Amino acid sequence: MRHLASLALMASVATLAAAVTSRVTAHGNVVLQAVDTSALPDIGEAWIEKNPYRGNPKAIAIGKSAYNQNCARCHGLEGISGGIAPDLRYLDVGEAGDAWYIQRYHKGSSRDGKVYMPPIGDVLGQKAGWAIRSWLDTVHEE
Ligand code: HEC
Repeated sequence: MRHLASLALMASVATLAAAVTSRVTAHGNVVLQAVDTSALPDIGEAWIEKNPYRGNPKAIAIGKSAYNQNCARCHGLEGISGGIAPDLRYLDVGEAGDAWYIQRYHKGSSRDGKVYMPPIGDVLGQKAGWAIRSWLDTVHEE
């Protein structure tokens, strides 16, 4: 049952994301790629607001690849935005930016009934989110 529910969620997020992208960029479908985070320490189910993996080389490597597969199509390859979505290199670095980052990753962003970014966290999971954050911190710019 849990498996089925997560598949259904994945399908609806993919559809949502595809709708957003085709409207904004006409680049085609957004298909989220599962991220293998089994090498990282478990952090439980409840969403936390502070990166538990900061500076962890394994998390940084996993996060870099997960970013390029799942976020780059909107936020730009290697974190360098082409202007479709914010350039994530300018997020507040370290603890100061963690809560904002994870909130967007988890819930996405919509206003006035329009989806700007689909919610991703429940599909890819919290561990993948913090791995991506760990990598983003390494490419931070002021
Ligand atoms: C379908 C396009 C799309 C995808 C895919 C996407 N985003 Fe976004 N994201 C956006 C847009 C558009 C915004 C700006 C939202 C707004 O204006 O409210 C945004 C905003 C954000 C923000 C807030 C940025 C800021 O400066 O306040 C974060 C953090 C973020 N995204 C992280 C991610 C991560 C991490 C991924 C991949 C796991 C991802 N996004 C995938 C489109 C996307």
